[in-house]
Amino acid sequence: MKVEIKGGKRMTLKKDFLWGGAVAANQYEGGYNEGGRGLSTFDAVTGGGYKKPRKVTYQTSDGTIGEVPVDSTMTGKVPEHTFGYIKENTFYPSHQATDFYHHYKEDIALMAEMGFKCLRMSISWSRICPKGMYEINEEGLQFYDEVFDELLKYQIEPVVTINHFDMPMYLADHYDGWSSREVIDFFVFYAKTVFERYKNKVKYWMTFNEINVLSGWCQIGVHDNNPQNLYQAHHHIFVASAKAVQIGHQINPDNKIGMMVSYTPSYPMTCLPEDVMEAIEFNRQKEFYMDVQVKGYYPEYQLKKFERDDISIHMEKDDLEIIKNGTVDYIGFSYYMSTVSSTDPNAEKTEGNQFIASKNPYLKTSDWGWTVDPLGLRIALNQIYDRYHIPVFIVENGLGAPDVIESDGSINDEYRINYLRDHIKAMKQAVDIDGVDLMGYTPWGCIDIVSAGTGEMKKRYGFVYVERYDDGTGDFSRKKKKSFEWYKKVIQSHGDLLD
Ligand code: BG6
Repeated sequence: MKVEIKGGKRMTLKKDFLWGGAVAANQYEGGYNEGGRGLSTFDAVTGGGYKKPRKVTYQTSDGTIGEVPVDSTMTGKVPEHTFGYIKENTFYPSHQATDFYHHYKEDIALMAEMGFKCLRMSISWSRICPKGMYEINEEGLQFYDEVFDELLKYQIEPVVTINHFDMPMYLADHYDGWSSREVIDFFVFYAKTVFERYKNKVKYWMTFNEINVLSGWCQIGVHDNNPQNLYQAHHHIFVASAKAVQIGHQINPDNKIGMMVSYTPSYPMTCLPEDVMEAIEFNRQKEFYMDVQVKGYYPEYQLKKFERDDISIHMEKDDLEIIKNGTVDYIGFSYYMSTVSSTDPNAEKTEGNQFIASKNPYLKTSDWGWTVDPLGLRIALNQIYDRYHIPVFIVENGLGAPDVIESDGSINDEYRINYLRDHIKAMKQAVDIDGVDLMGYTPWGCIDIVSAGTGEMKKRYGFVYVERYDDGTGDFSRKKKKSFEWYKKVIQSHGDLLD
């Protein structure tokens, strides 16, 4: 008997596909001591450069000033019982960043001109709760009210990350950040405050940015990064996120609340089974976080790893139940590159987004050593969707590159157009050919911002250039790059006009 299976309707990007861009407060907003904002960890992190680590400046209880380098994996070890400290005559990029605080109207108008349907941005925790605790800064809430109103004026949906790499400094200084269980309640209070306040303005949320790479003093306020401490801190973050998801759904059942993971697929260097196993293990470093936040439980392979590594996670009675009941509605992820796993200790290495791994001999790398792999984005989309079957959202993608202003004032960032074009093509294939349920695409640093890994302005991602430089000079004026008009056409044509 002949069985005929009729093909369904060919999928294309959804009508309400969220084209836009992405930024984060600690790299973009500035205004670090304005409007009642409290200090955040990144305010004590200096500028750096490629292979020139940023530094955390701190003070001990007897007043001694010190500093410690933070490498691009963000794992600098800040001595215990020290306090974040801002030194005179030192350049801290987050203090003004690229000054969204004073330029938000101009920036949002530029985003509207490109046709953005959404802006992914984060709220600075210490702008809302200056010490990260139960005191609310009304002026901070008003600032984001104005930003959201401005976005909505142009029908741009805010997509809000509640915590993107910024820890109120007070919590790092006095609680050792997420090492302390008390921080769960502080975070939940903050999350509830913003869910309630922006109930009628924001529908799309993510709890923590790149939860799978969170570590160290700058990102989570933890002084000692040993695995026991780090996994305990991550457990607290899981519980806090799950509680926030439940509260966010109660406050507004229409809220779509996602998790956010840094997704770098790893290929085995060869078909040697040991290399394949190595790749499986590398990939588990992100699957673990998705398993907990999407499936709602700690997966077996991770529990076995804890056993082997002698890690014991202290859990309270209801924690697992909270995690089970606080699963997310979608998976947001960043994709910049793929990597390679190899058991060969001599395999050539290259830089990556907060890690160093083996180099792929078939692919080129960016000026910062990140592997460029557009097809890897389609692979990532397939891997994620096949495993979890909930909507996915590409909330970061892009090429960090040095831009040059030509004598006629133009900025011809063809390299960025090429990178984005190839990735958008791969993303469309994942939808058209593979049937992935994709919510949107928000290229990173759509208006130039400070690099998280290196603290540089030189490493730029935007469609809009900001006159700000690594020596702290620049008047923050904005200039459209060539990619500005290109991306505008891409959005206008719903991803059809790419060339
Ligand atoms: C992601 C982060 O890891 O990568 C961003 O979510 C970061 O905050 C982005 O900026 C790009 O990394 P970098 O180091 O080039 O800024």
